[in-house]
Amino acid sequence: MNLKGRHLLTLLDFSSEEIQYLIHLSRQLKKEKKEGISHQHLRDLNVVLLFQKDSTRTRCAFEVGAMDLGMGVTYIGPSGSQMGKKESIKDTARVLGRMYDGIQFRGYLHADVEMLAEYAGVPVWNGLTDQFHPTQILADLMTIEEHFGHLKGIQLTYYGDARNNMGNSLMIGCAKMGMHFVACAPQSLWPNAELIKKCQGIAKETGATLTFTEDPKKGSRNADVIYTDVWVSMGEPKEVWQSRIHELHPYQVNREIMSHAKSNAIFMHCLPAFHGIDTEIGAQIAAEFGSSYPSVSKGELEVTDDVIESMQSVVFQEAENRMHTIKAVMLATLSDIRG
Ligand code: CP
Ligand code: NVA
Repeated sequence: MNLKGRHLLTLLDFSSEEIQYLIHLSRQLKKEKKEGISHQHLRDLNVVLLFQKDSTRTRCAFEVGAMDLGMGVTYIGPSGSQMGKKESIKDTARVLGRMYDGIQFRGYLHADVEMLAEYAGVPVWNGLTDQFHPTQILADLMTIEEHFGHLKGIQLTYYGDARNNMGNSLMIGCAKMGMHFVACAPQSLWPNAELIKKCQGIAKETGATLTFTEDPKKGSRNADVIYTDVWVSMGEPKEVWQSRIHELHPYQVNREIMSHAKSNAIFMHCLPAFHGIDTEIGAQIAAEFGSSYPSVSKGELEVTDDVIESMQSVVFQEAENRMHTIKAVMLATLSDIRG
């Protein structure tokens, strides 16, 4: 297996074997890092990280991952560059592709990351678009494998906005790896029919299953993994909070939902998560909507504090694994390393 020169725009770009290889490589890099074994395999290379949206995990994972591999890194944030304002994505791609060996992009339109990939001439990695978040899914799959020892046959139930980047990408990841994906949300927030059809085709080959339900109790039955994400994603106007809370408050992951899952089920969240009033937005939402929706009065939105802080929660291991998996993606796509 040699992934040199490949882009990572969605996990649809990779076969099940290639995904398994990336997870294996991530686990090897994690072990080496813990043992203090240096792996500066990409000295003399440079990568650029383009962010149209904010980030903690993805940015830091790319920066630390690149530095651990011996690379130079440039961060370009939502302001301060010409991209998208005075210069098109296509021109930006052709400029940066001549200076850097790889490009990470986080932004709004998936078409923008596709455009970068088409014109950069170097590997492009999608660090999140409105539609997909593939590097997150690699970390999630790695975390599940570390916990259960395998991926095939694991049931992952996703609560919340299942047609956002996380819902779409988890569905693809589960389909690729022969897992059982359950989306638990109002039907208006299920992934689009075309993507479901594509994933059903993949599932036929891998033994995965895809289920869609509006019933919060049914959704967690037999689940090994309960997963949720924010109810309002970056780039959505703040006006959608009201309707989203109305639609999704029955899907809040709380002790009751967890109690219907398997007794050894784990809780996952890509983070950041709203589980209290210790964030600006969490406090605002609690103050504005708490009296109408008691479940959100303490700033606990998609997940309650007792669940995210429980022994079943693996969210910080999952966050750490962002770095190991992103490092593996950069190493595999920028070098001749073979699995
Ligand atoms: N999960 C994730 O992508 O986090 P950031 O927005 O902090 O990068
Ligand atoms: N759906 C979220 C994911 C954050 C990592 C967002 O796009 O804001």
